[in-house]
Amino acid sequence: MTTLAELCEEHTSLSSMAIDHLLRLTASWSLLADLSFSDMVLVAPDEEISDDESFVVLGQVRPNNRSTLIVDDLIGTSQPSSQWPLVREAFMSGERGAGEVALPGVDQAVPVWCIPVRFDGRIIAVLVRLQGPLRGPASLYEQAYLSIFERLCSMVSDTTFPYREDTVAGPGMPRVGDGIILINDVGEVEFATPNATNALHRLGVYTSTEGKTFAAAGLRLRVVERCLEYGIPAMEEVDRSSDVAILFHCVPLFEVGVVTGVVVLLRDVSDLRQLNRLVLNKEAAVREVHHRVKNNLQTISSLLRLQARRSDEHETVVALQEAERRVRSIAVVHEVLSREPGEEVVFDEIVRSIVLLVEDTVLALHPVEIVVNGELGTLPTDLATPLALALTELLTNAVEHAFIDFGGPDNEHVGIVTLDLSIDGDDAVAEIRDNGRGLDDDFKLDVATSLGLSIVRDLVRSQLNGKIEMTTVGDDEGGGTLIRVVVPTELAT
Ligand SMILES: Nc1ncnc2c1ncn2[C@@H]1O[C@H](COP(=O)(O)OP(=O)(O)O)[C@@H](O)[C@H]1O
Ligand SMILES: [Mg+2]
Repeated sequence: MTTLAELCEEHTSLSSMAIDHLLRLTASWSLLADLSFSDMVLVAPDEEISDDESFVVLGQVRPNNRSTLIVDDLIGTSQPSSQWPLVREAFMSGERGAGEVALPGVDQAVPVWCIPVRFDGRIIAVLVRLQGPLRGPASLYEQAYLSIFERLCSMVSDTTFPYREDTVAGPGMPRVGDGIILINDVGEVEFATPNATNALHRLGVYTSTEGKTFAAAGLRLRVVERCLEYGIPAMEEVDRSSDVAILFHCVPLFEVGVVTGVVVLLRDVSDLRQLNRLVLNKEAAVREVHHRVKNNLQTISSLLRLQARRSDEHETVVALQEAERRVRSIAVVHEVLSREPGEEVVFDEIVRSIVLLVEDTVLALHPVEIVVNGELGTLPTDLATPLALALTELLTNAVEHAFIDFGGPDNEHVGIVTLDLSIDGDDAVAEIRDNGRGLDDDFKLDVATSLGLSIVRDLVRSQLNGKIEMTTVGDDEGGGTLIRVVVPTELAT
């Protein structure tokens, strides 16, 4: 479909400022269509056609509260001015005209209003209201709608509608059918539709508001005064208790440049707000779950610690302490997740915590320094727990085993364990390096049956779909052990 701007450029010589004015008009004009229960089209002389006797339809809007008259879209079509003489008259005279036109596909002549659109002192287009058949005499509130519509039409011809600041209709905005209140130039309610009255009831305003200001009726609403004072459209949401929320959209009415009233469009947005709150609640619930998991893991780890203290057998004590450390390294991840629940987690915070954990559990035995270089940034949550657990095992091993019987009797050798983290394409890479004694000559990662490395193998290869290598570094390159873990950051499911 061709846009209004494209049509203007193709068929008219309107300036970009004028086109912008028409764009703002059509962004707000569903309000006009609804207030008048009518289809509306925007037309301008078609300069593409040399006889100067045709109008091009630049835009079209259908009412939300009535069935449409226009079955086929008129946008982009040319209408001969012989058939639409009133449009021509309005364009030439700058005066609003009413009469009838013949519409393709409609048997009877259609009543029309032709509203000249003025911009920068001249008429740039004509807004045509195509009125559908009336269903009996207009009711009281239909009459009120129409009177507001008429005031807005005069504003279109006076250049005060559309507003410079804001559009007054569109997705999410209150619509005519949601409820309307008309306010006079001193802020008193002249008229309220039944829907609007209902919305006021929900806010606790039970007395009639007619002839009163909102303040006198017990409703605090600053937008009305602001709208009267400054003549710009404004919105405010009023809440009552936690389950009622009404959106007030105030639209100023002008007469010869002076604000003479305000149209308030109301929308009950309680359901919407409740939905928002549910979503927020869900996030809080996820956070809470992580928090509880963390607490439970901490309880388990302290139970293991207590039990380790009561055991006399060294082997049992060591086993329980290791189990405790493993549980704590999982708790670390949940600690971070309980602060920032989501699909992703900042892994570097977890790294900081597991380094502290390793230092806390084993460093006391040997003077060893742990250095972390680089970072992995944010990682998917599913990846964080197994990776954190694997890194804890490997760091613990380096601290525990690399420096045993190493560095001479005085132990003057300073043990350093480095953890280098980097992202390589789609992979997260972690290298754990120590400057200790290196692996035993007959060491083979794949045949190691000890628990720690069995766990690491399972985590890295099966759970994380990654690779792990452990090698002894030659003395000429500094010695010690190098462990390289490569894990794809997009977990294959
Ligand atoms: N960084 C390292 N330097 C030297 N030896 C290591 C290193 N990491 C692991 N090892 C060797 O691998 C063995 C198996 O480790 P692991 O499976 O974690 O069991 P555990 O730590 O309970 O001994 C260790 O006992 C140790 O001999
Ligand atoms: Mg170990």
